[in-house]
Amino acid sequence: MLDLNSKLSSLEGALKAELSSVKDLKSLDEFKIKALGKKSELYQLTRNIGELDPAQRKTAGALINKLKTYIEQNIAELEAGLKTDDNKNKLSSEVLDITMPGRVYPLGASHPVTQVLNELIEIFKPLGYSIANGPEIEHEYYNFDVLNIPREHPSRDMQDTFYIMDNVVLRTHTSPVQACTMLQHTPPVRILSPGRVYRSDYDVTHTPMFHQVEGLVVDRGIKFSHLKGTLLYFAKRMFGEKTSIRLRPSYFPFTEPSAELDVTCVACKGKGCRICKNTGWLEILGCGMVNPNVFKYCNYPDDVTGFAFGMGIERIAMLKYKIGDLRSFFEGDVRFLRQFQ
Ligand code: PHE
Repeated sequence: MLDLNSKLSSLEGALKAELSSVKDLKSLDEFKIKALGKKSELYQLTRNIGELDPAQRKTAGALINKLKTYIEQNIAELEAGLKTDDNKNKLSSEVLDITMPGRVYPLGASHPVTQVLNELIEIFKPLGYSIANGPEIEHEYYNFDVLNIPREHPSRDMQDTFYIMDNVVLRTHTSPVQACTMLQHTPPVRILSPGRVYRSDYDVTHTPMFHQVEGLVVDRGIKFSHLKGTLLYFAKRMFGEKTSIRLRPSYFPFTEPSAELDVTCVACKGKGCRICKNTGWLEILGCGMVNPNVFKYCNYPDDVTGFAFGMGIERIAMLKYKIGDLRSFFEGDVRFLRQFQ
């Protein structure tokens, strides 16, 4: 027994010394195996109990167990301490800096064509115009015939038309909406019809698809002066208070008389520059008094009169934002689009 006692006390000393040098969880695991595992001295001692005198076995077992429990307790305490340290280390090394700026995802913006269209709607809304829409695929009859553009008439060649099938076209202008509205509603009429139009054309100032806005006012007593007043109001709101307008005689089959509207050049304010080809004026839309033939096709009474105007939205946007190439509207280059945010 004396022998076992001294064995245990020297083992206890050795294990304590070893435990005191354990500084992390990994070496603690190694220590556990070494101190209590199958190959440990303690385990061997337990197994050898059987070889002792039966009278001594009980005491020997108790002594060995005492040391075993003591070591296990020490391990548990150290483990708890190390785990707390480990958590603290993790918390301090994996610290989250909530003052760091977040990731910024680029936001889109509305297209300049949409912006100008919205502006147009805001300009005409207070005058009592409502929005009318029509199909982009249109029967030839509404795109041309109703608008006093008969077949075989040279005015059909004014616009290069995409035919989808016999008699069916991609609308070349928003004017069919005028006619369709009059065919469906009795006068008075006051509409603004925006939308895509198509013409077989492609260069710096033409794209096969572009946007138009059409205005139509029909009532009893509508005169050319109403048209002129409306256009002056529009030009000032769109291009600035100092803008002047000028009407030049022109020709459209669906209006009579017809005119083209010029506004003071947005670049030189009328002095003359490269953009206005030194005239001081920029052409922005076509207009006129609704041709009585159109009223006739639409079954409107004889005593109504009206005016209409139509403009390309891209053209207005180009002048307003000083954009040189019409095609940049349709290329989807974000660097171009970002300028209009
Ligand atoms: N529809 C004509 C065009 O596309 C524009 C216009 C509309 C002219 C209404 C006069 C009246 O060129």
